[in-house]
Amino acid sequence: MRKVLFVCLGNICRSPMAEMILKELVRRKGLEGSYWISSCGISNEEEGNDIYLPAKRKLWNEDIPIESRKARKITQEEIDTYDDILVMERSHREHLLRMYRVDYPEKIRTLLSYDIEDPWYSGDFDTVYEEILEGCQKYLDEKKL
Ligand code: 4NP
Repeated sequence: MRKVLFVCLGNICRSPMAEMILKELVRRKGLEGSYWISSCGISNEEEGNDIYLPAKRKLWNEDIPIESRKARKITQEEIDTYDDILVMERSHREHLLRMYRVDYPEKIRTLLSYDIEDPWYSGDFDTVYEEILEGCQKYLDEKKL
């Protein structure tokens, strides 16, 4: 089983959206047994909070099922045990490499080749959804499963 962890800043917008989108893409391919998918943040600012309502609304509108979850900050154990750590911005990768022990730095990658803007500030959940969907589709295509 391949373990995939999405990471953003607060873990209430982008990374939980990516978690729910990739889980749905994997379900549609019947590959639930092949992936363990989760998400977390680099900050503890939103610890314990649910997915931000506008992000949930966008997922509902796109027929992406949403699991009940609480925001949390990444741990060293997660860095050690996940195979792929997909971050939303280059600065998240730099932060993880600075603050944690990372034995295989190449396993931390940005989901797209550019930064996915924080919708908490932009309010643009449509663009963020399309970008995350594209990144998740590319990720699955690369795995060729
Ligand atoms: P996210 O968005 O990183 O996509 O979950 C944010 C949510 C909350 C904050 C920043 C970004 N915040 O500063 O509280």
